[in-house]
Amino acid sequence: MNLPAGDVDYATYGAGYAGRRRTDPRIATLVDQALGTARTVLNVGAGAGSYEPVDRAVVAVEPSVAMLVQRPPGTGPVIRAVAQALPLGSDAVDAAMATVTIHQWPDPLLGIAELCRVTRGPVAILTFDPDTLDRLWLMEYAPKLLAAETSRYPTVRALVSALGPTASVHEVPVPFDCVDGFTEAYYGRPEAFLDPSVRRSQSAWSLLDPAVEEAAVGALAADLASGRWDERHGALRRQPSFLGALRLVVRP
Ligand SMILES: C[S@@+](CC[C@H](N)C(=O)[O-])C[C@H]1O[C@@H](n2cnc3c(N)ncnc32)[C@H](O)[C@@H]1O
Repeated sequence: MNLPAGDVDYATYGAGYAGRRRTDPRIATLVDQALGTARTVLNVGAGAGSYEPVDRAVVAVEPSVAMLVQRPPGTGPVIRAVAQALPLGSDAVDAAMATVTIHQWPDPLLGIAELCRVTRGPVAILTFDPDTLDRLWLMEYAPKLLAAETSRYPTVRALVSALGPTASVHEVPVPFDCVDGFTEAYYGRPEAFLDPSVRRSQSAWSLLDPAVEEAAVGALAADLASGRWDERHGALRRQPSFLGALRLVVRP
C-alpha cells in the first residue's frame, strides 16, 4: 500500500485541490522577496505548484501523485521524495521554500534541517502560528478543528530555533479576496464554509469526525440565517485584510 507521506491522504482528499488552493499574488510577492536573488529554488511539499516563482529555476519535491498530476504544464522538474530525507547534496540550491506544508510532515524540524542542509541561501517557510489560530471566528464553531490544527503546527519559536539566529518572522495579512482557499482566506466570507468543496481543500477538516464537521457547519448556517453571525462578526465583511495566524518565517 502507498501510505501518505504526511497526515493527510491526498489520494482521497486531493482531487480539486488546485482549483481552490491557488497562488494569491499578494502573498506570492512576499514569498518571492524572501527568496532574494536566488536563481535556483527548491520547493518542498510543492503540491500543485502554488507560490513557485516563474522567473527562476525551480525544482519541486512532492510525495503525492494526486498532487503532482495537478501541476500546470511547463513547470520545472519534480522529485518524488519527502522533506525529512531530501535526495540532494549539501548546498545544492540557492534558496528553498515550503508553503503551507510543514504541519503535515511527520517531523517538521527534521524537514527544516534538511532544507537548511541543501540550501546555500534563503529558506522561506509560509506557515501558521499555532498560538494565534484562535483569532479566526470559525474556531468558535469548530473547537475540535482548532485543537487539531494547533497540535499540527510547530511553534514560531521552534521554527526560529531550527532556522538559526538570523531568522525573522513576518505576520502576513490575508487579503479579503484571497484566492488561496485556506481557512483564514474566508474570514469575511463565512458562507464559503457551507460549501463542501471549500472545506475539502482545507486539510484539517479531514482529521475530524464527519459528525463533528456537520455540527459545526450546521451551527454556522443557523447563525448566518438568523443574523447572529453578522451581529457578532459582520464588520469583517468590510475589512480589507485580516491579521490572523499566517506567518512567513525566513532565514536570509
Ligand atoms: C496543503 S498542501 C500545500 C501545497 C503547496 N505548497 C501550496 O502552497 O499549495 C501540502 C503538501 O505537502 C505535501 N507533504 C505532506 N507530507 C510531506 C512530507 N513529509 N514531505 C514533503 N511534502 C509533504 C503534501 O503531499 C501536499 O502536497
